Amino acid sequence: MCGIVGYVGNRDCSEVLVSALRKLEYRGYDSAGIAVFESGKINIKKAQGRLDDLEDKMKYEGKPCGNVGIGHTRWATHGVPSEINSHPHRGGDKVTIVHNGIIENYKELKEMLIKNGRTFVSETDTEVVAQLLDFNYDGDPVGALRKTLSQVEGSFALGVLFADREGEIYAVRRESPLIVGVAEGESFIASDVPAIIQYTKKYYLLEHDEIAHLTSDGVSFCDLNGKHISKELKVADWSQDAAEKGGYDHYMIKEIHEQPTSVKTTVTPRISDGMPSLDECGITVDYLKKVKQIHIVACGTAMHAGMVGKYIIEKLAKVPVIVDIASEFRYREPLIHKDDLVIIISQSGETADSLAAMRLAKSMGAKTLAIVNAKGSSIAREADMLIYTHAGPEIAVASTKAYMVQISVMYLLCFELAFAKGYITDGECCRLTDALCEIPALIDDTIDTTNDLCHEIAEKLIDADSLLYIGRGLDYALSMEGSLKLKEISYIHSEAYAAGELKHGTISLITEGMPVIAVATQTSLYDKTVSNIKEVKARGAMVILVCDEKAEVGADVADHIIRVPKTLEMLMPMTAIVPLQLLAYYTSVLRGNDVDKPRNLAKSVTVE
Ligand code: F6R
Repeated sequence: MCGIVGYVGNRDCSEVLVSALRKLEYRGYDSAGIAVFESGKINIKKAQGRLDDLEDKMKYEGKPCGNVGIGHTRWATHGVPSEINSHPHRGGDKVTIVHNGIIENYKELKEMLIKNGRTFVSETDTEVVAQLLDFNYDGDPVGALRKTLSQVEGSFALGVLFADREGEIYAVRRESPLIVGVAEGESFIASDVPAIIQYTKKYYLLEHDEIAHLTSDGVSFCDLNGKHISKELKVADWSQDAAEKGGYDHYMIKEIHEQPTSVKTTVTPRISDGMPSLDECGITVDYLKKVKQIHIVACGTAMHAGMVGKYIIEKLAKVPVIVDIASEFRYREPLIHKDDLVIIISQSGETADSLAAMRLAKSMGAKTLAIVNAKGSSIAREADMLIYTHAGPEIAVASTKAYMVQISVMYLLCFELAFAKGYITDGECCRLTDALCEIPALIDDTIDTTNDLCHEIAEKLIDADSLLYIGRGLDYALSMEGSLKLKEISYIHSEAYAAGELKHGTISLITEGMPVIAVATQTSLYDKTVSNIKEVKARGAMVILVCDEKAEVGADVADHIIRVPKTLEMLMPMTAIVPLQLLAYYTSVLRGNDVDKPRNLAKSVTVE
């Protein structure tokens, strides 16, 4: 998704903007640009490609020299990735903007502006906003923003330079995230905290339809009527180190290694006297007793964490759970009842479909619970109940540690729910919670014992055209995540299948040497899965088996065996996911891919 930054102060603005944009690279982008006030004029530099391409261009053409400006990394939505479509966009002589989001009525607005003599150079919806703002501007920035915002529909965060207001930045948001950072003699705007943390930890969260005005003397906020707003100053608890690679080759492998700590930090504060305690998050035993049905709504990896939630909650707490992809849920007229609990899982807390799904559930009278990693994000703020996962910033586009903490929370919730419903005693609940507390050490062991083997096995995957992941029950839920991880960063096609479903069609895909990753960690289903493995093996598949350290594996079952530490059957996903992440990681590395920023993908999907 696009990233926005802006700077007012005394530093070399071009340098600040580019280094801040680098910290937003995790959001995914295909072009970049900056606009800086230079001797009373706005100097724009843009390039298709990476920030390195922009820097190369500025080395060759000269970089804008000044202390005030805005910058942008673009993830194309309207119009191909190209220099012309990249931001910042001018709206005429008076206005230059950067934008994150989507303007839904841009076609109508463009027609209106063309009728009024305006011409356009790009295919973007952003240029329409720039032109409209310019059209509405008569020297009063707030008035022009107010008028423009009353005309545009959609989601957006905007950073704006008015040509006759050197030394100032205006910013406004609706739906898309934007923060305003402050330090002595300088201020910043950014789509996310890591962009500014090297300069300041102090920031304000801009709310829906609030306007920020930044100068080197400080920042002020007003609503669309120009009425002053006082806001709470926040202090980021992330160190700069946490937002950087810390000696690893990629963020993804760093984040895989951070999983034990992330689980500890997420789980430990939610345990009291050996029992899960989510009271502080607004979830009480009394409330859980009343829950009749649960919907878990999310996208991608977060939805796969929801699948784990479904299997464990239905098994232990006997509450029916429906897992939905957010983009389907929001348009399929779901049947939601007042006593239903709707759980939204999201790392970023800004995923457009998940946010819309949550709003829909609320409007239907259900209670919503958000499980979110990004503090202060939209989903976190709007949910009725909130459990923060404490994974810290996840920078790699492929989610690993966020998934791990999402499933940790699923376990806590499941144990408390099962206890509330009377399906387990407090003693049983404590034993389960103890086992969960031992997981961080087991994840550590799993990384140590499977890392090199996964690296070796990855060498056998790099030339594959297609792979299958198979498993039953929780292993099927894990297979879905393993398959997504592999395809998104290795660009090798793969599919996850319920092992027992193969013979209903998919087994015809198996050819000599085709890699099949079989996950068989569920002791109660082990023999059944092994039968399915034999079916693919008999047809020539190269089987890579992920099983627990104690599993008895016949000689004819697998070509490669990855063993993970054994824990309670229901907790096995927390160790078994690790080799699936490592296999994806090393396959991507060996194929020479951009592991942390896979093509076409964005970290935070703030558009529908
Ligand atoms: C895959 C991945 C995505 C996200 C999905 C939801 O590795 O990261 O599938 O899980 O885009 O994002 P959040 O969790 O931010 O709502």
